Amino acid sequence: MSPEGARPVARPQVVLGVSGGIAAYKACELLRRFTESGHDVTVVPTESALRFVGAPTWAALSGRPVATEVWDGVHEVPHVRIGQAADLVVIAPATADLMAKAAHGQADDLLTNTLLTARCPVVFAPAMHTEMWEHPATRDNVATLRRRGAIVIEPAEGRLTGKDTGKGRLPEPGEIFELARDVLTRTGADGPVDDLAGRQVVVSAGGTREYLDPVRFLGNRSSGLQGVALARAAAARGAEVTLIAANVALPDPAGMKVVRVETTAELRDAVVSAAAGADAVVMAAAPADFRPASVSEAKIKKAADGSAAPLELVQNPDILHEISTQRVRPDSVVVGFAAETGDATGSVLDLARAKLARKGCDLLVVNDVSGGAVFGQPDNEAVILAADGGMVDVPRGSKAALAHAIWDQVAPRLT
Ligand code: CTP
Repeated sequence: MSPEGARPVARPQVVLGVSGGIAAYKACELLRRFTESGHDVTVVPTESALRFVGAPTWAALSGRPVATEVWDGVHEVPHVRIGQAADLVVIAPATADLMAKAAHGQADDLLTNTLLTARCPVVFAPAMHTEMWEHPATRDNVATLRRRGAIVIEPAEGRLTGKDTGKGRLPEPGEIFELARDVLTRTGADGPVDDLAGRQVVVSAGGTREYLDPVRFLGNRSSGLQGVALARAAAARGAEVTLIAANVALPDPAGMKVVRVETTAELRDAVVSAAAGADAVVMAAAPADFRPASVSEAKIKKAADGSAAPLELVQNPDILHEISTQRVRPDSVVVGFAAETGDATGSVLDLARAKLARKGCDLLVVNDVSGGAVFGQPDNEAVILAADGGMVDVPRGSKAALAHAIWDQVAPRLT
């Protein structure tokens, strides 16, 4: 029984559309994630999807009957009702054929009918061979669907069916789930928040490693959680995202290009190159300020006399300063992070304001770490300082909530 006075919270109604690709088996895991986290899921497979995973599997995992044709259960008018009742439609995997039909408004089975009657957010998670994804016909269909407000996430790169590798893999089910849940929770009366649609954004995450020799490095404790949350949030708001991940031990988030780097030099090259065409760049990574002056090709041995190892360090480039002060696109928005404790020279905010001016960025997300670090923690709180004088307090909450609060500040500053 619900507690006195509390009204039962409606369970979100999700339609999981499955089209006929080998990645259909991964949709079983996606379905399980939804049902285990309090969503009611109606699975609508296409006829060809059932060649890969049978109807009993979908029915058992969703606890609901499964239909593919508009002729099934006609008295309930399912081709209209399923779409109308949905809070979210996710198509995973979305084949080239399914997206072609959706782009042209065809309605020859239950899933395509459902797409025409749904007024909720629709997320397509495509999976196909690289050639099919890159074909101009598919590019046009994807562009059409995006223009109409659907979220078509980028496929992942990697092993495809057979011996091929390349772009076209279905992202991991857990990552599709995170993105879909984000879209669902942020959908208001006016529909999903897609204020970054058509924008290119770059997010750096994680901590760099500076090698001393082939087996040792200087590193830091940045987990990359906040950067990954920022990248996910941007993708859920419709942006084309490049995530530059420095030693991040997390799976590739769904729907974005992920560039993996190790050192600050590699991070710098990747960020500078991606920033050239970007509308916004967020430097959430923790690059090392110093690196060893030289990297030994062989493992460094202990001295027989027990003397201390000489360790000469040189300063690394300041990436945030470089991309802020040498902008290829003067209208781009650059965001930095600062973890401050305050000291004899000033308070956390004094030091942060000075850093904002020194770095030349537009926004600075300031963490007060006087009471301990935030590394690896699920929560965060911050103050967002703006070069134009604004200041926003973001109370303690999830890193996803802080990520959205940051994009809330970035979006209106994009021209
Ligand atoms: N940053 C960067 N390149 C570096 C070091 C830091 O781009 N070599 C970026 C970080 O990604 C972050 C911001 O700069 O967005 C602030 O990092 P911080 O370490 O606080 O800045 P520092 O310039 O090192 O300042 P401090 O002197 O306080 O250490």
